[in-house]
Amino acid sequence: MWRPAPHSVLSGRVTACAYCLVHRFSTRTHRLSLDLPKRYLGQPSAFTHAHLLKQGEVTPGLTQTEYALRRYKLMSKIQKESEVLGLETDHAAVFLSSPITYMTNDIPYPFHQNNDFLYLCGFLEPDSALLLQSRAGHPMPSHTATLFVPRRDPGRELWDGPRSGPDGAVALTGVDQAYPIEEFKHILPRLLDERVTLWYDSARPAHESLHSNFIHPVLETNSKFRNRIKPTRLLMQQLRLVKSQAEIELMKKAGRISSHAFIETMHWSKPPLDEALIYAKFDFECRARGAEILAYPPVVAGGNRANTLHYVKNNQIVKPGEMVLLDGGCEASCYVSDITRTWPVNGKFSAAQQEIYEAVLEVQKSCLSLCTPGTSLENLYSHMLSQLGNKLQDLGIVPRRCSDNLLYKTARRYCPHHVGHYLGMDVHDTPDMSRSLPLQPGMVITIEPGIYIPENDTEAMEKYRGIGVRIEDDVVVTEESPLVLSAECPKEVCEIQEVCVRGH
Ligand code: GLY
Ligand code: MN
Ligand code: MN
Repeated sequence: MWRPAPHSVLSGRVTACAYCLVHRFSTRTHRLSLDLPKRYLGQPSAFTHAHLLKQGEVTPGLTQTEYALRRYKLMSKIQKESEVLGLETDHAAVFLSSPITYMTNDIPYPFHQNNDFLYLCGFLEPDSALLLQSRAGHPMPSHTATLFVPRRDPGRELWDGPRSGPDGAVALTGVDQAYPIEEFKHILPRLLDERVTLWYDSARPAHESLHSNFIHPVLETNSKFRNRIKPTRLLMQQLRLVKSQAEIELMKKAGRISSHAFIETMHWSKPPLDEALIYAKFDFECRARGAEILAYPPVVAGGNRANTLHYVKNNQIVKPGEMVLLDGGCEASCYVSDITRTWPVNGKFSAAQQEIYEAVLEVQKSCLSLCTPGTSLENLYSHMLSQLGNKLQDLGIVPRRCSDNLLYKTARRYCPHHVGHYLGMDVHDTPDMSRSLPLQPGMVITIEPGIYIPENDTEAMEKYRGIGVRIEDDVVVTEESPLVLSAECPKEVCEIQEVCVRGH
């Protein structure tokens, strides 16, 4: 859930000019993908993992052409921005991979790539950098894309597994060239000697040690360099905000996997039941369908614990007669889903549970129907609050005669979070994009109203105390009606009861 808060405004839109370059790139893509080394790389390739990727794909479902197009769109944006700023320099953009992080000595956490770096090249190894350079004599968005990657090292590969190396990185991703990461330290001083504007997020480096060893010292040696650095954060978020058709296909897959994991988990859950087991069941069912990992630690909250919005301890027993709120979603092929369902673990809603549930469901469906071009998350939020206010009146939790102001405040009290957020490679995707932006086809958002009535809320009728319900779906904005990615996940009262008792 996102807290409601004021936000910044988006500038500019991508033009279509990068599309002209695709054809040239698709020819090149074909040649490169045939050249894949016949060995394991540091990530799946069409040669080693034919069950996951097709020829020409860098990551499942995303071709070298798609990644090249993203880089062209970024360079177009940089070009536009530099015209606005009156910069008459060459340009270089740098993106760092994530590092490996450690749980304890020598024991790494599961690796997760920095999503901006991943978005631009699809390379899944740590300790790497991507450099995009404008080319002298060629107008942008023409550029050279260079990867700096961990060098092949039989000693390390014995422990950590194969690496792609520079040749594997070029063949897999289709960038123009690649070098061992150690070479990166020689590049930046040379770049900044020339008249180059550096597009780089120095305020929040994705890789602390690459930044402090290779970039920070160069920037510190000369204060004039510092004035030639421009951030990429907003440009990247503008790009990632609107999804391509290939991205939407991957998000459909993530939505479908999570929806079916919900169905299995609902059917299997019989009280009394440990929340930790529900978590494990959901995780298993996602992975069994091809997800790599859960997109976030799920909330598995029985009974009154559903009223703790970020409850992730997941270590209590759900008792007969209680509902469980599961906010979970998988990450599959680099894209995530984010779904919440609340269901009675014994398969039948009590009258009070059903009243609250149906109130949330009606508000949720009403908000979903408004997810069309031109409205905004902020408008949807206002709509959600006014609808929730009406429902709270219908339920008798708020008096019929009360001011609009009190109704709004009460709705916020019983639903303290926003109606939703942008969704994509990250759960809270493109977080600096304003929620007042008009929705456009290709944007993906969540719609997640809830009503939360803590057990100690003496203002609510006793029968409702301790009930917390949220219903969350993922939705693509289209020119036609909204496309709900989590549509296969049951949410009608009768569907849920049917799934809990009989399965599907
Ligand atoms: N699962 C996090 C959220 O719904 O925002
Ligand atoms: Mn969400
Ligand atoms: Mn969620």
